Amino acid sequence: MLSVTRRGTFAALILSIALSPALAASPEPVKAEHGMVVSAQHLASDVGVDILRKGGNAIDAAVAVGYALAVVYPTAGNIGGGGFMTIRLKHGKTTFLDFRERAPLASTKAMYLDGKGEIVKGASTSGYLAVGVPGSVMGLETAREKYGTLSREELLAPAIRFAKDGFVLDQGDVASLGNGAKKLSNDKAAAAIFLKPGGKTFEIGETLVQPDLAASLTSISQNGPDAFYKGAIADDIVKASAAAGGILAKADFEQYTVRELNPVTCNYRGYEIASSPPPSSGGVIICEILNVLEGYPLSYLGYGSAETVHVMVEAMRHAYVDRNSALGDPDFVENPVEKFTDKAYAKEIREKISPFKAGISKDLMPKGMGESTETTHYSIIDNDDNAVAVTYTLNGSFGAGVVAPGTGILLNNEMDDFTSKPGSPNLYGLVQGEANAIEPKKTPLSSMSPTIISKDGKPFMVIGSPGGARIITITLETIINVIDHGMNIQEAIDAPRIHHQWLPDTVFMEPFALSTDTLKLLSEMGHDVQIDASWPVWGQAAGILVGGKTVAEIEKGGGARYNGAMDSRATSGAASGY
Ligand code: GLY
Repeated sequence: MLSVTRRGTFAALILSIALSPALAASPEPVKAEHGMVVSAQHLASDVGVDILRKGGNAIDAAVAVGYALAVVYPTAGNIGGGGFMTIRLKHGKTTFLDFRERAPLASTKAMYLDGKGEIVKGASTSGYLAVGVPGSVMGLETAREKYGTLSREELLAPAIRFAKDGFVLDQGDVASLGNGAKKLSNDKAAAAIFLKPGGKTFEIGETLVQPDLAASLTSISQNGPDAFYKGAIADDIVKASAAAGGILAKADFEQYTVRELNPVTCNYRGYEIASSPPPSSGGVIICEILNVLEGYPLSYLGYGSAETVHVMVEAMRHAYVDRNSALGDPDFVENPVEKFTDKAYAKEIREKISPFKAGISKDLMPKGMGESTETTHYSIIDNDDNAVAVTYTLNGSFGAGVVAPGTGILLNNEMDDFTSKPGSPNLYGLVQGEANAIEPKKTPLSSMSPTIISKDGKPFMVIGSPGGARIITITLETIINVIDHGMNIQEAIDAPRIHHQWLPDTVFMEPFALSTDTLKLLSEMGHDVQIDASWPVWGQAAGILVGGKTVAEIEKGGGARYNGAMDSRATSGAASGY
């Protein structure tokens, strides 16, 4: 049987932006008939396909890819962080695993404030105080035990091999390690792994070997999650944390549990969306925005037109106020999910949107009242139509930049996703409220949005992306590009993006996303549109469309069964199928 793979390349990005909005520049999606894996690192995608070929299902492949990315994509792939998995089983049941980090038992609401109540710069993003209790190992093992078919040893073997024997670095891997070099050089154990002697960075063609990580993964393979949560790995992390002023305790690890939740669902123009519930804001806010947009003829208004962008921005503005002020960990706060995903509520929002004038964000400020680029998403579907969408993260690129000596495991800085101080923007500009305040064992609010869409009882699309607060709008825009604008899955992912998150009251756009005429029209409506130079790469979406590469092809019949697309913004990702 033939294997098909295409790697995301920077050259393709340049081409796709340069020719937008004609969008003919995107390469064809990867086509396959039996299974598809799309991830941010080509070796991990191939691991997933190998698992599918040997009879594993999509959940098995998701577990193996999760472990493999922890080795070959250290900027965001992880066992020292956490994430979410949305699953759609072949008969249509959907479920959701929350294995995101929890705040340590010794955490406090004001732990990142100084004596004057001001935020201590860097305290929630660097070093051990920034680390939330990791959930990835427990999450991947829970998925395997409940929904997988292969043994833990089989699913961990490829990751152990890459860690022990090493893997050859290509351009994207080297660029990623180079970007993290400064952060990683601050921690002796991290520098010893990810930098060469003398602090030099790796070069293309060199091999990265991670023996300590291989030993940690082997111990997890042999002893299960207890090796991580109850054994030597937890001991090593707690010891390193204490030595560096952190607050992680063995009890934090011993008490960690995974939550199985119902995905948030909504219907958009006849398509059934299943996405992440709180503690993610992703599914709720995607549904809220889609419900508002359903009242506008986006297909007629056209991709990138001033009218389309205006209504998208206004829907985003209203939805992000709700996100930032009202959502949080469901074990700690009452989330108004029903209200925010109600069509009647969307109608109320539409009634507040002027067709001619930009809204004003500060007028929406609730009474009393961040995130990072480096998360990663992968999408998988198998020969039986079991579909899995996983987004998991260390939060910032390489997380907190620390590795507990002897473990080889990079640790997250997920604590920065909490509200350090209500009303103050976090590192990534999100102004959040009390619902997301720090409390022991609480999970910080996320934007991660692993999403599976069905139509007429069959899987239609698997989609998600990294991108901090922009995860939501990246995922949303890919969905409307396919459903409303008729793009194929690769074009939909590659198309230039816009983003608004209530505060700051600015419409951010990728370079070339909007024409000069469109910018003029938006400016006349009162929108402040800017290119955000601090975000050179807006996410790396990974998607699969089922039954054809476009809605038109699906409706006509005869398209390829699985059509995979890795974002052309990604430098080492791949869609691989068989
Ligand atoms: N740390 C990114 C997110 O969870 O949204």
